[in-house]
Amino acid sequence: MNFNLSEEQLMIQQAARDFAQTELLPGVIERDNQQKFPHEQVKKMGEMGFLGMMVDPKYGGAGMDSVSYVLAIEEIAKVDASAAVVMSVNNSLVCAGLEKFCNEEQKMKYLKPLASGEVIGAFALSEPEAGSDATSQQTTAVDHGDHYILNGTKNWITNGGTATYYIVIAQTDPEKKHKGINAFIVEKGWEGFAIGPKEDKLGIRGSDTHSLLFTDVKIPKENRIGEDGFGFNFAMAVLNGGRIGIASQALGIASGAYELALKYAQVRKAFKTEIINHQAIAFKLADMATSIMAARMLCYKAAVEKDEGKDISEIGAMAKLYSSQVAMDTSIEAVQIHGGYGYVKEYHVERMMRDAKITQIYEGTSEIQKIVISRSIVKNSK
Ligand code: CAA
Ligand code: FAD
Repeated sequence: MNFNLSEEQLMIQQAARDFAQTELLPGVIERDNQQKFPHEQVKKMGEMGFLGMMVDPKYGGAGMDSVSYVLAIEEIAKVDASAAVVMSVNNSLVCAGLEKFCNEEQKMKYLKPLASGEVIGAFALSEPEAGSDATSQQTTAVDHGDHYILNGTKNWITNGGTATYYIVIAQTDPEKKHKGINAFIVEKGWEGFAIGPKEDKLGIRGSDTHSLLFTDVKIPKENRIGEDGFGFNFAMAVLNGGRIGIASQALGIASGAYELALKYAQVRKAFKTEIINHQAIAFKLADMATSIMAARMLCYKAAVEKDEGKDISEIGAMAKLYSSQVAMDTSIEAVQIHGGYGYVKEYHVERMMRDAKITQIYEGTSEIQKIVISRSIVKNSK
């Protein structure tokens, strides 16, 4: 086992760190206040290869490994968790699914512009009445020979307003339950496809979240992904990788909050000494550092196993479950260490605390991760 990062991985980490400091930090408070999407910054992330990091260069990607991806997302999320989720969705939920499961024609048409960052993508599984219980979705795609007709509503879709291409999961044969679900590539602007208003959120306010409304949208058959009935397995496979992205986002929020808290504790004085000299504060930092290291190890292990082609459903769920809890706990303690200053926007940690919460909800709530992990350990114990 080798815990050392390669020179290339260290370079990517440094590039992401520099980018976060110079390009993301300056406007992050304003974007959070105004719910402003980081358009310019996302464009630059595309130019740096950060929107299709693991995609083969022949499809417009950067051809990097998954550990590099974890490193880059952590650095971006340390400063701006909203930019990190844009990156995670485009890389893990959109590009990875297209590269692994699409045919050559679909890859050249859709993956290339998405992986190069020319456009961004979205992944639409959740519905108003079906989030965790994803097989109970109501959106339908009826087979009409050479095309499908799509009707229904998707909820809470990240990049909902800014995406150009959408992966939409829909029911084509309700009798067959999850075997009657398909995944389609849908283009913005197609007749009958409307985008709902932007959600006003607690955190990750720089990312744009919308509902998508489909009324008799005609999807050419060649835009179905994989064989008929493959859509649910497609979504689950994609989410296994996606959960590594969100685990890394959570890791970044935690390490960003910790670094600010450590610096603050070394300069803020109370009772004639820096507050880090009060053991109650030093112990909080010790707990934060320990749990962040454990979360980081889970993320790295999940990434390595993904690149080895192993089944990552359990380790990916573990990484997300644990890292999201660490993000929540660490950001709350970072606010506490900052005292009153932690409660105002200028010091960043209150935003991190608000941003942390979503990592326990999307791409499968913490309760769902425990279902995935417990089913896996039962299966493997037989
Ligand atoms: N990996 C691979 N396959 C999986 C899987 C996994 N983690 N979990 C389930 N499956 C497969 C099963 O093997 C089964 O397929 P077969 O019949 O071919 O074997 C099929 O899926 C159905 O499985 P279950 O009977 O276990 O299904 P279920 O109805 O009990 O639900 C669930 C399983 C794990 C709860 C699933 O519904 C789930 O993951 N729900 C959460 C949905 C979710 O994560 N949504 C995220 C939306 S995207 C998003 O949130 C993006 C963002 O915010 C940025
Ligand atoms: P529900 O499924 O109704 O769950 C409510 C509560 O019940 C939760 O605590 C849950 O854990 C618990 N629960 C449900 N079932 C069980 C069970 N069997 N056992 C124990 N507890 C259970 N979706 C997309 O498809 N694409 C996106 O890009 C996307 N982006 C999002 C961005 C944001 C900002 C938000 C808020 C959501 C996003 N989502 C997206 C949706 C997200 O994935 C869902 O909100 C999430 O999966 C939970 O579904 P739900 O909200 O319907 O909650």
